[in-house]
Amino acid sequence: MAFRNWYHVLLATGVIAVAAELAAGATTPPPGLTSSCRLLPGDAHWPSLHDWQDLNKTVDGRLIETIPRESVCHDAPYGRYDAEACTELQKAFDFPKLARMEVPGEFMDMSFKNYSCDAFAPRSAPCGLGNHASFVIDVSEERDAAVKDVQAALEFVRRHNIRLVVKNTGHDYLGRSTGTGALSLWTHHLKSASFIPAYNSSDYKGPALNIGAGVQGFEAYAAANATGHRIVGGSCPTVGIAGGYSQGGGHSILASRHGLGSDNVLEWEVVKVSDGQHVVATSDNEHADLYWALSGGGPGNYAVVLSMTARVHRDSGVIGGGTLAFNDSRVGNAAFWDAVGAFQALLPDFAEGGGSGGGNSFVYGLTETTFSAWTVTIPDTTPEDTERLMKPLLDDLTRRGIDYEYRPHVSHSFLEHFGRALGPLPEGIIENSGFMASRMIPQAVLSDPQANARVTAALRNISRLPSYSIACQSISVGHQPHPDNAVLPAWRDAALICLPKGAWDPRAPAADMARRQVEGVTEVQAVLDAATGPSGGVYMNEVSYLLPDWRAAMYGANYDRLLAVKRKYDPESVLYVLDGVGSDAWVEAADKRLCRAAS
Ligand SMILES: Cc1cc2nc3c(=O)[nH]c(=O)nc-3n(C[C@H](O)[C@H](O)[C@H](O)COP(=O)(O)OP(=O)(O)OC[C@H]3O[C@@H](n4cnc5c(N)ncnc54)[C@H](O)[C@@H]3O)c2cc1C
Ligand SMILES: *[C@@H]1O[C@H](CO)[C@@H](O)[C@H](O)[C@H]1NC(C)=O
Ligand SMILES: *[C@@H]1O[C@H](CO)[C@@H](O)[C@H](O)[C@H]1NC(C)=O
Ligand SMILES: *[C@@H]1O[C@H](CO)[C@@H](O)[C@H](O)[C@H]1NC(C)=O
Ligand SMILES: *[C@@H]1O[C@H](CO)[C@@H](O)[C@H](O)[C@H]1NC(C)=O
Ligand SMILES: *[C@@H]1O[C@H](CO)[C@@H](O)[C@H](O)[C@H]1NC(C)=O
Ligand SMILES: *[C@@H]1O[C@H](CO)[C@@H](O)[C@H](O)[C@H]1NC(C)=O
Repeated sequence: MAFRNWYHVLLATGVIAVAAELAAGATTPPPGLTSSCRLLPGDAHWPSLHDWQDLNKTVDGRLIETIPRESVCHDAPYGRYDAEACTELQKAFDFPKLARMEVPGEFMDMSFKNYSCDAFAPRSAPCGLGNHASFVIDVSEERDAAVKDVQAALEFVRRHNIRLVVKNTGHDYLGRSTGTGALSLWTHHLKSASFIPAYNSSDYKGPALNIGAGVQGFEAYAAANATGHRIVGGSCPTVGIAGGYSQGGGHSILASRHGLGSDNVLEWEVVKVSDGQHVVATSDNEHADLYWALSGGGPGNYAVVLSMTARVHRDSGVIGGGTLAFNDSRVGNAAFWDAVGAFQALLPDFAEGGGSGGGNSFVYGLTETTFSAWTVTIPDTTPEDTERLMKPLLDDLTRRGIDYEYRPHVSHSFLEHFGRALGPLPEGIIENSGFMASRMIPQAVLSDPQANARVTAALRNISRLPSYSIACQSISVGHQPHPDNAVLPAWRDAALICLPKGAWDPRAPAADMARRQVEGVTEVQAVLDAATGPSGGVYMNEVSYLLPDWRAAMYGANYDRLLAVKRKYDPESVLYVLDGVGSDAWVEAADKRLCRAAS
């Protein structure tokens, strides 16, 4: 048995040192974090039941052993088969609440679930942990206890040489909130929210909100609304604000008005992984480098966040909006796409115009034959302003002989607007897990007729792929004041971000899904990248994990400085995330064992 194990490892990783380490394992003390590979369950030195029970005591009984949710569809090994629960799960396999938000160890991305325990496979099919973390600490909602929980986890993974991950909602598209054989810190219950009427620092004086790491969009919007304010957050109201969203950039229907999610952060309250210290990082204290990296430099990689303090913005009580739809039925497909291109060229003026001082945005979907803007957002404006802003866009459609449907509306708070445009709250538009691509498109590209035509042709080509749909959002985040941060510089020149998404079909053969995944990179991402040219960028939170050259694409000119922060605050790579800064020092072998890359 032991021989088969090493043989497997040898075959899988080709790392002879690993086999030797395991062979020696039974007689030597457990290898620490400096060894070449992290442990997996079944290894000689994997913590004993007793070790886990000790950890459980330290964290006041908050340790949970992961059981895949799909185990209700299978007999072995969990013995939880339940026909009704299985049918329920098949229907809602991708609903945030049932499927991951409130289920420890669970995550969204089906590529990372990878059929290890498949709700759509026969009852007799095996059900394993696959890419799930092995154990989860349900981090306490009470602050002192939370610090203690995280410190206990750090001490445990260091002593036992185990992988550590942080999971909030599990919404990540790159599997960054899970890890095979990992101990997972689950921040979902850190739900505090407290209003700071007059935050005062060298960067910012004004109202702010401190939110726990588990606070989700819908909760933050409500907490801000309760004090007459609004906060920048994602279009999917269940996305975690202080998690991947603000650590990775964070676009929003309010971003053109108030900046990206990362731009709005004033403080990060963290536990440092190198020494377990509980500190606050701001743009002007001794942890300014950590503040800089956490604000846009990529999630789950530099520290364990307990809360963040972000700017909030006075809700003036009037926010314009609406929906706009048109299609190719009267003018034909070529003229329809010409109209789409012309519309996109007008967006920068729309974003900046109006009596409100700009900050207006459009979110729209494109199929081969239809344009549908489900969210127009025009903050702090009068109906007359809205009409004036929309006029050039609508006039252009009329001039082209296109019949459109435009339905304006006015809301009296951002919360009301959000619920109308992207609700119903709390779960919002329930989107399927899928294959993401993204491209920021600079204003200079949109206003150059030839470059614009190339981008429009690329979108048209992508719209013809049967399993892909496209959402685009106008964006303008070059001018709002914000502390220096690690947001990808390409955001600052962008006027539009387009997000093609391939659908995940849970009943399709695995090989088809694997092909669709590759298609997302070679046919979708590559086509959009080539058409946009080098001045654009990709959004690290909404892109394929198969992206080649992810260092430049996701982090750009910030990479080296981020790597220095990673080395300073996490020299042993206690935290590892796929495509994270410094992650290329590691490889996941075929059995998903995480090992140092041969240098
Ligand atoms: C339906 C949908 C809509 C979306 N809409 C938008 C949008 O409008 N705008 C936008 O910008 N993005 C959007 N996203 C992308 C979103 O920003 C990312 O999925 C993001 O990673 C989610 O963060 P999370 O904390 O909720 O998820 P998780 O999967 O739990 O975590 C994501 C990453 O953050 C890390 N992390 C989480 N909490 C902590 C913590 N406390 N400390 C350290 N690391 C932590 C995790 O380790 C992981 O690497 C959307 C995603 C989905 C699924
Ligand atoms: C941890 O302790 C709690 C409370 O005693 C218990 O309910 C839970 O099952 C334990 N977790 C594990 C993984 O044993
Ligand atoms: C899914 O499984 C296949 C086949 O075992 C493997 O090649 C692939 O790397 C896995 N993908 C992920 C994201 O784990
Ligand atoms: C902000 O803090 C500075 C320095 O402590 C102080 O001088 C200033 O008066 C404060 N401003 C406000 C508006 O509170
Ligand atoms: C949001 O704030 C407005 C204005 O203060 C208030 O009228 C409304 O009831 C609030 N909405 C919710 C859902 O709390
Ligand atoms: C196309 O647009 C026209 C005019 O707005 C509308 O009547 C029709 O239903 C639309 N067709 C589709 C397929 O959306
Ligand atoms: C779109 O597809 C056509 C036909 O395959 C091809 O000739 C063209 O180069 C593509 N355009 C872009 C911008 O990808």
